[in-house]
Amino acid sequence: MNILVVGSGGREHALVWKLRQSPQVKTIFCAPGNAGIGQHATLVQLKPTDVKGLLKLAKEKKIDLTVVGSEHPLVEGLVDTFEEYGFKVFGPSKSAAQLEGSKVFSKDFMTRNHIPTAQYRNFSATAYDEAKSYINTLDPPMVVKADGLAAGKGVIICKDRQEALVALDDIVLHRAFGDAGSQIVVEEFLVGEEASIFVLTDGERFVTLSSAQDHKRILDGDLGKNTGGMGAYAPAPVVTEEILQRVIHEVIRPTLGGMKHEGSPYCGCLYIGLMMTADGPKVLEYNCRFGDPETQVVVPLIDGDLAEIFLSVAERRLDPSKVKMHQAAAVCVVMASLGYPDQYESGKQISGLENIKMEDGVMVFHAGTRKDGDKIVTSGGRVLGVTAIGFNNELDQTIRNAYHAVEKITFDGAYYRSDIGKKALKYLYATEQRINNKESL
Ligand code: AMP
Ligand code: GLY
Repeated sequence: MNILVVGSGGREHALVWKLRQSPQVKTIFCAPGNAGIGQHATLVQLKPTDVKGLLKLAKEKKIDLTVVGSEHPLVEGLVDTFEEYGFKVFGPSKSAAQLEGSKVFSKDFMTRNHIPTAQYRNFSATAYDEAKSYINTLDPPMVVKADGLAAGKGVIICKDRQEALVALDDIVLHRAFGDAGSQIVVEEFLVGEEASIFVLTDGERFVTLSSAQDHKRILDGDLGKNTGGMGAYAPAPVVTEEILQRVIHEVIRPTLGGMKHEGSPYCGCLYIGLMMTADGPKVLEYNCRFGDPETQVVVPLIDGDLAEIFLSVAERRLDPSKVKMHQAAAVCVVMASLGYPDQYESGKQISGLENIKMEDGVMVFHAGTRKDGDKIVTSGGRVLGVTAIGFNNELDQTIRNAYHAVEKITFDGAYYRSDIGKKALKYLYATEQRINNKESL
């Protein structure tokens, strides 16, 4: 099989790394990729949204399967174009990708299909006065969201009405997110712990992969600015078997059934971002692709041939019984450039990568790196995702292994959070405590 992977981050590195392990895979091309991906695939300098260029490449290289990592090409319809030309693609169609591409669509879709989510109202930019009046009726905190893709920045959590009115002005009047702000969602703030669940589906059948938890804020203790994600772990103990069953029943089945019923069957990976509220799990967001950095912890736990699994999805013949997860834990610590998520410098030489060995259960997924002669240098805000995989299933040791590896890698201005996975330990200890208490009764 010849595979084309579209994207360039840590998520794509994890996908390429796992696809490379398939005995069916002959060549992998990645557009545009990064220095780490270049160890397992041929890099092609094409942008993920250059559909014409990618299609030409697919024809020339006789690509059997295309895997799309990031949301933009999906929302813009790459899958529809490729399928028109007879290519097989792992990813949703343009209309199915609206679940991520338009928050207004996804909120109304959830209402139509009775899927639990925060209370909300949608407004077009011309209904500015109505949006203002609605904000004045809500109890703070509240959340104001730009409808379209805004590189993860279009969600503004507002602690009072004044902040919400400023957010409204920024999105609607000052067009802080361009056309992504031509509609807005104003919604209730949900309290609880977040987790995400990845669903692989061919539109008819589905299978859930491991749950995971991202760490979105830049500083320890979930403080500071929002980022693309500073680390992740899987599975997330907050998603108990009971909660998973609720999510399958209350969210996954109605979502996939609803999309099929509405003429946009969902095919590919559906990322469900959840808040575990006192009233049960509620959907914060859908993403139409794998999460980053959650992929770096979920993909290594898949026990199977990823190329075969993706192909079966693309050919609408997924066999859920063939998708198994290792009983293991994984932790990814993101090493970022100092200054991220604001201004940062690039081109810093990375040292120590040769000290990390997969035999020790650690894999370094590259995010923002490139080759400079025979050196590897930084080229982005998030640089590396240092990922430990604990097949003994002990999360605390896996966390220590990840940090031990992080300490072996250096580059000028390297920054990372020191508390990735800590939240999960709290749950595990609480569960252990309950078991011990029961045993001592
Ligand atoms: P979204 O892109 O909609 O997931 O929003 C990004 C992040 O904002 C989420 O991962 C949450 O941390 C936060 N968020 C979004 N909506 C809400 C909400 N209604 N209540 C609390 N936090 C939210
Ligand atoms: N980790 C969040 C995302 O991929 O959107």
